[in-house]
Amino acid sequence: ETIDWDPEDVGKSGYDHFMLKEIYEQPQAVRQATRGRVSELDGTIELTAFPTAMRNELDRVQFVGCGTSYYATRYGAALLRERGVPAQAFVASEYGTERVPTEDGTVVVGVTQSGETADTLAALRDANGAGATTLAVTNVVGSSAARECDAAVYVRAGPEISVAATKSFASQQVTLATIASALADGTDRPFLESIRDLPAQVQRVLDRSNARDVAEELVGADAYFFIGRGYQHPVALEGALKMKEITYEHAEGFPAGELKHGPLALVTDRTPVVALVTGGDDLVEKTLSNVREVEARGAPVVAVTDDPDGVDGVADHVLEVPETHRYLVPVLTNVQLQLLAYWTANLLDRPIDKPRNLAKSVTVE
Ligand code: G6P
Repeated sequence: ETIDWDPEDVGKSGYDHFMLKEIYEQPQAVRQATRGRVSELDGTIELTAFPTAMRNELDRVQFVGCGTSYYATRYGAALLRERGVPAQAFVASEYGTERVPTEDGTVVVGVTQSGETADTLAALRDANGAGATTLAVTNVVGSSAARECDAAVYVRAGPEISVAATKSFASQQVTLATIASALADGTDRPFLESIRDLPAQVQRVLDRSNARDVAEELVGADAYFFIGRGYQHPVALEGALKMKEITYEHAEGFPAGELKHGPLALVTDRTPVVALVTGGDDLVEKTLSNVREVEARGAPVVAVTDDPDGVDGVADHVLEVPETHRYLVPVLTNVQLQLLAYWTANLLDRPIDKPRNLAKSVTVE
């Protein structure tokens, strides 16, 4: 007697797809990203792979990345800017044509899960050619990006099989937040305490998420829009990318305030708007006013928030996340968006782990 089995399914550990498995591996992924790097005892952060020399010479940072990794760079750059470091994020394939000057003290950081993306490697080569100091933030030890750069920090997400990046993004977020903290002055207790609690909070989002129900309510829409401000803007972009990659539905992410300057023309009662409503009173108030604009056009509203009372009467659906340090809220909100995309694609019966036309690692420019 023989049992039919597909060798591919063995690696899925009971999950229907690698993507869902990897989404559920995020508590572990975010824990690994800081293991041995932050000392809770004395409240310091030590990234040995990020040499002190590089840290001391650093005057400004240019990030390069593609796809999901590019959105991680947007988040990383925003964190550094808030800490007083001039930082910019570039789509790697545009880095060469934008002719960004690299003066002394410029560190170019390539963020790439695989470490093999041709566009990112080309940008790093450009940067090296221009005399910049380069750092790879990658998931793959010994990858081309790690070898191309002066130093490498590994995000330690573990192998990611699903073409759509999930846990590697969470690991990138946490690693970049840790680098930003290390650059600040190496001690940041509130942040470190939140980092310690993060795995359990990601787990809580996974355990309690109602994203599947929300997906059932919204499936069949004409398009999905994602809006966010500040640290949530890159998450809005990433949420839309995840949605389009695996559902083949039209999805776009916008800065919440930009919606009214054009995209609002697309909003109808058949275009759900997923609003990231976090980030302190001022941002929340402004985002809620953008939400009211779409509501007036009949759009179903999904609020992703750490304050459900605050969206009472405004949102049709709520995806809740626990409260945490504001630098880390985007890790939690993104998990809800991953689940929303996953369950929508599942309802549409898409080949979730291997979307048409896409590859896990794109080695051509
Ligand atoms: C491909 C994948 C994306 C990924 C991008 C960057 O396009 O389909 O999911 O975000 O490459 O990959 P990297 O390995 O450089 O992070």
